[in-house]
Amino acid sequence: GKDGYRHYMEKELHEHPLVIGQTLQRMIDPATRRVVLPEMPFDLATIPRAVITACGSAFYAGVVGRYWLEEIARLPVDIDVASEMRYRNPPLTPGSLGILISQSGETADTLAALRGFKNAGLPILSILNAEHSSMARDSDAVLGTVAGPEISVASTKAFTAQLTVLACLTIAIARMRGELDADGEEELVSALLDLPSRAADVFTHGDAIRQMASVVAEARDVLYLGRGSAYPVAMEGALKLKEISYIHAEAYAAGEMKHGPISLIDRTVPIVATVPSGVLFDKTLSNLQEAKARGGRLLAFTDEVGRDRLSAIAEQTIALPKVHPFVTPIIQTIGVQMLAYETALLKGTDVDQPRNLAKSVTVE
Ligand code: F6R
Repeated sequence: GKDGYRHYMEKELHEHPLVIGQTLQRMIDPATRRVVLPEMPFDLATIPRAVITACGSAFYAGVVGRYWLEEIARLPVDIDVASEMRYRNPPLTPGSLGILISQSGETADTLAALRGFKNAGLPILSILNAEHSSMARDSDAVLGTVAGPEISVASTKAFTAQLTVLACLTIAIARMRGELDADGEEELVSALLDLPSRAADVFTHGDAIRQMASVVAEARDVLYLGRGSAYPVAMEGALKLKEISYIHAEAYAAGEMKHGPISLIDRTVPIVATVPSGVLFDKTLSNLQEAKARGGRLLAFTDEVGRDRLSAIAEQTIALPKVHPFVTPIIQTIGVQMLAYETALLKGTDVDQPRNLAKSVTVE
C-alpha cells in the first residue's frame, strides 16, 4: 500500500534515503570502506571505452555516469538513447563495455540495443532494478539497484539507485585504471556513505518546494538549466514535470541558452536552475544573470555554500544540503523530483498514472 502517503510517487520519493543506503550496502564493504563489485566474466581494468544506452530517466542517469566515468576514471564514454543507438550501427571499439540501464529490465528499445551490442561481441553489464528480467538474462553481468518495486509510473527512487550504482562503478573502474588512490577512494566513498542522511534532509525543504511549485504550476512553459553533472539533473527535472503535470518543460545545458532558448525568456517562462556550488558555479551564475537581465524569473536549487550569491538574483533559492561535489546530482535530483510532484498536486493531475504513459514500455 501507500503507507499513508497520498500517492505511490510521494511514498517512493520518501524512500530515496533508504534505497540509496541499501544500494550502497550491497556495493561497499563496511570494514574496508572500499567498493566491491561482484565477479564479472570480463576485466574492467582493460576496457578501452564504455558505451552506455537506456531510455527516459534511465538515460539521464547514464549521462551523469558519463560525466563521472570520464572525469574520475578517465574512461572514454559514448552514450545515446536506446531508440537511436539500436539503429545507429555505430563502429564499436572491440572490447568496449556495453552498459545498459533499466528499472524494469524489459524496455523494448534498451533490450534491442543490448542484443545489438552482444551481437557485435561486446561484454554486457546491465544496471537493473528487476534482477529477473529479459535484460538480466541476456547480460554477462548485472549490478542491481536495490530500490524495491516502483509502482508510480514516473521513476524516482530507481533513478537515484541507478546513480548510486554508477557512482560505485566509477570508483571501482577508476581504481583499476590507476586513476584513484586509496585516499581518493576513501574521500568518494565517504561522500556516498554520507548520502542517506543528507538525502533525508532534503525533505525539510518541503514548504520551500511547494512555494516554488506555485510559480511553476502557473506556467505554460518552463526552462531547466544546469551545467556538468547538474545538466542531466535538469533533464530529469524537466521530464518529470512534463510527465506528471503536463506542463511543457525543456532542459538546456546552461551555456547553450544564448544559442537559441534565450529568445523564449520573459516573465511567463520560469527558469528552474540546478546549480550546486563547485567549479562550474560561477559559469552557471553568469548564464542566470543573463536570463535575469531579460526578465526571467529564476528558481534555483543550490546548496548552503551557493545560497547567498544565488539569492541575490533569484526569485527563490533553495539551499539543499551541502555534500561532496561528486554526489551533488543525487541530492539535486530529489529536489527537482519533489518540485514536479508538488506541481502536479497543484494541477490536480493523476500523479501515479499520468495519461498516455505505461510503467514498462515493452513495444518499440
Ligand atoms: C520517467 C520514466 C521513463 C523510464 C523509461 C525507461 O519517469 O519512468 O522515462 O525511465 O521508460 O524505463 P526502464 O528504466 O524500465 O527501462
